[in-house]
Amino acid sequence: MAPLIELHGIRKTYSDGHEALRGVDLTLGEGMFGLLGPNGAGKTTLLSILVLALEPTTGTMHFDGIDAASGRARLEIRRQIGYLPQDFQPLRNLTGAEYLVHCARLRGIAMTRRNIDRRARMLLDAVDLTDVSDRLSGEYSGGMRRRLGIAQALIHAPRMLVIDEPTAGLDPEERIHFRNLIAEVAEEVAVLLSTHISEDIEATCDRIAVLTNGVLVFDGGVDALMSRSGHATSLEEAYAAELLRHGSRAA
Ligand SMILES: Nc1ncnc2c1ncn2[C@@H]1O[C@H](COP(=O)(O)OP(=O)(O)OP(=O)(O)O)[C@@H](O)[C@H]1O
Ligand SMILES: [Mg+2]
Repeated sequence: MAPLIELHGIRKTYSDGHEALRGVDLTLGEGMFGLLGPNGAGKTTLLSILVLALEPTTGTMHFDGIDAASGRARLEIRRQIGYLPQDFQPLRNLTGAEYLVHCARLRGIAMTRRNIDRRARMLLDAVDLTDVSDRLSGEYSGGMRRRLGIAQALIHAPRMLVIDEPTAGLDPEERIHFRNLIAEVAEEVAVLLSTHISEDIEATCDRIAVLTNGVLVFDGGVDALMSRSGHATSLEEAYAAELLRHGSRAA
């Protein structure tokens, strides 16, 4: 069976000449995968390429064995991926429930209005927003907005969920709430979680990769990363040691 996603030799040079990715190879399957890297490492660039929002300068991407370079395949691949961007903001003047219906329509989901409403309600319940589903999303807290972001990413029932820095700016309680929610989602949908906070992925990810200066310097299990830096007692320490080995620092 082909892996869900296969990236090979991905490079991205922005128009100002900045090399954000310098040859990334990555294979993703089921379960929860954590992408860890300091500010400016290239995480958002890599995720944008993965969700087909950005073209790589060179390199190939296959989704379930299908080459993403073909125009028709891109439409189908987009349908299979849910994305929560780093700077996600729902439409402030729509309620949570209205916003999900809006996203469903935008993505052309082939469902009756009644079934879309039902799916929206089910997702609002799954992300603990039922009580506020009829309040304007502009009045939501940061954590509530982020949870609505997960619901919108799942509205079209994708096979993979891609999440960029989901816990930045959340208070500790919301952060834990959010982590638990993602772990639940990962039982049914493949999840790629990108973050610069090792704690976000320590407890939940089956596999992690460390990205720094546009290069993947580690790809494997949490235990393997820990044992690479002999005396590390936490993932945070092992991650910091890995970055130091490659001349950068956690941020
Ligand atoms: N449109 C652009 N044009 C030029 N350079 C860019 C552009 N977008 C990003 N960059 C640069 O590419 C590098 C990688 O950026 P990217 O946003 O992918 O990093 P990141 O790991 O997501 O960082 P953060 O943790 O801050 O979100 C950075 O040095 C950034 O300044
Ligand atoms: Mg980013």
